[in-house]
Amino acid sequence: VSKELQAMMDAHELLRKFYHHLLVNTKEGQHALEYLLNRGFTQESIDKFQIGYSLNSWDFVYKFLTKRDFLPEWMEKAGLIIKRERDGTYFDRFRDRIMFPIFDRHGNTIAFSGRSLGADEPKYLNSPETAIFNKSKILYNYHLAKPSIKKMQYAVLFEGFADVIAADRAGVENGIATMGTALTDEHITLLRQNVQTITICYDSDKAGIEAAYRAGNHLHEAGFQIKVAMMTDGLDPDEYIQKNGEDKFRNEVIGASLTWMAFKFLYFRRGKNLQLEGEQLAYIEQIIKEISKLDNAVERDHYLRQLAAEFSLSLEALKQQQKQIYFAEK
Ligand code: UTP
Ligand code: MN
Ligand code: MN
Ligand code: MN
Ligand code: MN
Repeated sequence: VSKELQAMMDAHELLRKFYHHLLVNTKEGQHALEYLLNRGFTQESIDKFQIGYSLNSWDFVYKFLTKRDFLPEWMEKAGLIIKRERDGTYFDRFRDRIMFPIFDRHGNTIAFSGRSLGADEPKYLNSPETAIFNKSKILYNYHLAKPSIKKMQYAVLFEGFADVIAADRAGVENGIATMGTALTDEHITLLRQNVQTITICYDSDKAGIEAAYRAGNHLHEAGFQIKVAMMTDGLDPDEYIQKNGEDKFRNEVIGASLTWMAFKFLYFRRGKNLQLEGEQLAYIEQIIKEISKLDNAVERDHYLRQLAAEFSLSLEALKQQQKQIYFAEK
């Protein structure tokens, strides 16, 4: 690596340690630590994930780094400080935030995401794309989760850092998350090297369910086996664990994940009143389309029977329609 890249990583490494120290050991970080403990974060996970706190200051990082001979130009390129147009001076990007370090697969700190403690927007402020940080290639927690992913032979894909960390506390150590972006082909390439089954455990609100459908399709097309774990009451995994406990999360959420097809049965049903004939027919047609995509005849038969039973239809009629759809799509 070039001197510049090395300096960028060294600065992140130093700051990660210092942010963590500020959170855990200082009066300045006390309110942030209390916030985390109130949210159910444990000292153990704060250490494991090296969570920290950035001071409420415009130039703490600037001074901290320049005192140690880091070039401001490089630190700006690293996304740690920002240049003021008007006079060319610098200010800190992350101020008064809970700091989540982002590691590459070798365990180097290459970026941060800072969560605001109050109503400050954005809720999570991420490092920009830099020479050492490419969002579409990084999965949060991948470096720690990899051994568990290999052992369990599946990974759990979450929406947020808080979810990964809460799940880890609940004993689900094979969790990863994208950085507030959709799953990219680069993420998929990375995953494919170690695993072929993914359990999607996104927030169970409307946005999360839509995102799970998109991610599931993307992964399914890429050849992965998909499961979908869902929470009740529109909760996200972190909220669910706080409310219902770790055991229930393991057994009744992760342990009760739906197959990809069962998820689609639910997905297409949302917002429809199946008592109404028109909506019922539309639903049946959507499901038959999905069934047509299955390569396996036994599976097709299984789901057609399920559909026939639920709506008291003849299996023959459904089979016929499935064949029509199959040939029409060809
Ligand atoms: P959520 O809004 O579901 O946040 O966004 P969360 O993970 O539940 O966070 P808490 O529990 O309120 O702390 C899911 C993910 O989207 C990204 C983050 O990665 C977040 O974890 N995000 C969200 C951003 O990057 N920026 C934002 O302003 C908000
Ligand atoms: Mn793709
Ligand atoms: Mn969400
Ligand atoms: Mn959430
Ligand atoms: Mn949350």
